[in-house]
Amino acid sequence: MLTSGQFDLLCLHLLLSSVAEDFHYSGQVIVSVFRADSFTCHPAEYEVDNECCPMCPAGTRVGVDCTELRSISCLPCMEGTFTEKPNGLKKCFSCTPCDQGSGLTVRKSCSATSDTVCEPLEGFLCVDSSDRNGCAAVRKHHSCEPGQYIHQKGWSSSDTQCSPCSDGTFSDGNSTTCQQHTQCEELGLLQTTAGNTSADAQCEEENLSGTVKAVSVGLVLVVLLILSVGGVVMFIKRKTIFKVSFGFCGNIIVYMMKEHVY
Ligand SMILES: *[C@@H]1O[C@H](CO)[C@@H](O)[C@H](O)[C@H]1NC(C)=O
Ligand SMILES: *[C@@H]1O[C@H](CO)[C@@H](O)[C@H](O)[C@H]1NC(C)=O
Repeated sequence: MLTSGQFDLLCLHLLLSSVAEDFHYSGQVIVSVFRADSFTCHPAEYEVDNECCPMCPAGTRVGVDCTELRSISCLPCMEGTFTEKPNGLKKCFSCTPCDQGSGLTVRKSCSATSDTVCEPLEGFLCVDSSDRNGCAAVRKHHSCEPGQYIHQKGWSSSDTQCSPCSDGTFSDGNSTTCQQHTQCEELGLLQTTAGNTSADAQCEEENLSGTVKAVSVGLVLVVLLILSVGGVVMFIKRKTIFKVSFGFCGNIIVYMMKEHVY
């Protein structure tokens, strides 16, 4: 008895013989016709040596092919391997790793019948979800610029959305809201730097700063000098001498002038 494969070949041979009488017979014609009419098994079977064997179920693979005398033997897929569909494979597929280093993590572990499903880690956006097994590639979410706030936090399938801060508020780009500028005056402080959308206003205690103090002391000394000179001039004119002395009481400079008339 002929197997179905042998029957197909015989049929093909007869067909080609008849074709050869009408057309120029070339090797190429044989090959292409042969391929087009190759041996096929039932969809639930696979072919081995022109025999059709029933497929092994998902989660298993072929251990030993069937023969005319022996039925097929199937073996379960080992840990870390899988087959999703009935198959005639001698090896199960390896599970896809979710590479932590590249921003992926496991959403669903690999089983004997399904591959691993990966998803982006927190802070990452999926940029390749063409793979049926979740996400294949990710990139970090965009961060907002200073002067912007996080309008919408990024998640696995959408990037961070930033919006500009309105006047009178600021953000370094890391917060989900813009904060009001500190109102220095309301705190009884001096504003030294005005706030902008990326930085808060800077305040300082109303106390005079070192340089301001130095300048004011200098000014007072100049005034005292003028007054002293004035005293000398008055002495010459009125024969009066003014004894000038001054002292510091904290921030206040006390100026004393004693009159001595001759
Ligand atoms: C904002 O976040 C980025 C990244 O997380 C960080 O490098 C930066 O120092 C943060 N800026 C501030 C002002 O906290
Ligand atoms: C906002 O103010 C900070 C310091 O107060 C300054 O460094 C920064 O350049 C300013 N940014 C803009 C956009 O004016």
